[in-house]
Amino acid sequence: MRITYRNANNKDYWTKRWDDIPADVPMENLDVYPLKYAQMTVKDKAGKILEAGCGAGRVLRYYHDRGYDILGFDFIDVAISKLKEIDPSLQAEVGDITDLRFADQSFKYVLAFGLYHNLEHGLEKAILETYRVLEQGGVVCASFRADNIQTRLTDWLTARKAKSSGGENKVQSFHKMNLTRNEYEQIFTRANFVIDFIGPVENMPILYKFAIFRSSGHKKFDENKARAEGYRLSWFGQRLQNFMMKFFPDQFCNIYVLIAHKN
Ligand SMILES: C[S@@+](CC[C@H](N)C(=O)[O-])C[C@H]1O[C@@H](n2cnc3c(N)ncnc32)[C@H](O)[C@@H]1O
Repeated sequence: MRITYRNANNKDYWTKRWDDIPADVPMENLDVYPLKYAQMTVKDKAGKILEAGCGAGRVLRYYHDRGYDILGFDFIDVAISKLKEIDPSLQAEVGDITDLRFADQSFKYVLAFGLYHNLEHGLEKAILETYRVLEQGGVVCASFRADNIQTRLTDWLTARKAKSSGGENKVQSFHKMNLTRNEYEQIFTRANFVIDFIGPVENMPILYKFAIFRSSGHKKFDENKARAEGYRLSWFGQRLQNFMMKFFPDQFCNIYVLIAHKN
């Protein structure tokens, strides 16, 4: 386990992030994270879905627009108010994964992309809450930041950038937790989940940080576009990324995606 520290604490980081961009459009690309993995999880259209940590809403809106019964929550007010403004028919609310208001066994699916690694305290409690609100046989799909070369490099680049813009003397606060594949598996197993799938995934390849490796439509960074389409690389960038992922997947993924069910 490795902890990433940054200048802004986790909650301030997300508040600024969601304050800075409009609500997401529904995701379009079924072949990339996270929709690809949500699709592997949600098999029954009648099953109730909880999206925990829905953020700007790209997954929530995708399923809502297709008539699924999905409720999303996030602990950042501005993310939820932007979503309600853009589509008042969405079931979206402010909430915290460590203390859910829902009764036991309320949902068939829980989608939790990029959520649990934000917890400095209460990770085990959050996983237990997830287990509690799932019905018997219900399925969770969740991603977690990997502890590997890629995330170490990302953290180093970010620290270097902060230093060059004069932020080096600021107090360092908890930003995210990073886990190895084994550590990630173990916290779900300890909570009684049965793991069906766990795999290394590239959400935002490190090469995407450099415009030279981005696809032509992505040279100028547009976060909403990248969130809807996926972080697209140029032909060469994609080949390089494929090579790294083929031979060193555990070192060049940035997250692990896990799918597990309640026994
Ligand atoms: C990486 S973002 C993912 C957003 C969305 N799931 C997606 O894939 O587009 C993680 C989200 O978790 C939210 N979050 C962090 N800690 C949380 C907590 N304790 N309870 C609820 N949401 C939280 C953040 O505000 C952020 O929106």
